[in-house]
Amino acid sequence: MFHSQATLETFRPSLRRVAASVFIVAATDEEGRFHGMAVTSASSLSMEPPSMMVAVNRSASIHPVIARTGRFSLSLMAARHEPLLTAFSRSDMRDRRFAAEDWKAAACGLPMLKEALACHLCTVVAAHDFGSHSVFFGRVDALEVTGGDPIVWQDGVILRPASQV
Ligand SMILES: Cc1cc2nc3c(=O)[nH]c(=O)nc-3n(C[C@H](O)[C@H](O)[C@H](O)COP(=O)(O)O)c2cc1C
Repeated sequence: MFHSQATLETFRPSLRRVAASVFIVAATDEEGRFHGMAVTSASSLSMEPPSMMVAVNRSASIHPVIARTGRFSLSLMAARHEPLLTAFSRSDMRDRRFAAEDWKAAACGLPMLKEALACHLCTVVAAHDFGSHSVFFGRVDALEVTGGDPIVWQDGVILRPASQV
């Protein structure tokens, strides 16, 4: 169906068609506490220098932490991390996000999701506010990669491969 205007009623459903990987963007505050939330807006940016970007709602609790500390990590969620997704996307479950068995601290202090498919440790080199969000551009200082199946998010749910349905 063609819509001559992008309104919330037409724009939102159009985005639900997108199949996306899910990352947890995380940061460490000045007291060493971890903060994080689930995002689909994370993406690679450039190869030289290696860099990533992520769009964070300015109302999200992690936003001021990234803005102040200038650093964030992006952990690419594997299928085995599915039980974590709800807590990382619901404000009322914020205190259940960082169970010790799921997380470790990098040498630089940033949170790393154990057995993430990839984890990028980034320094913010630029930030741009647009609408409700800020886009943080991060230079990748270090990374870790493992193997496994990804979580794929579409239409508000985790997409199951036909073989698992
Ligand atoms: C699959 C998924 C992807 C999301 N992607 C984003 C995103 O890219 N940017 C964003 O600001 N919020 C995104 N959210 C919403 C946040 O995860 C959610 O609002 C979270 O509770 C915010 O953290 P807070 O409760 O600590 O403020 C996403 C949620 C889900 C379930």
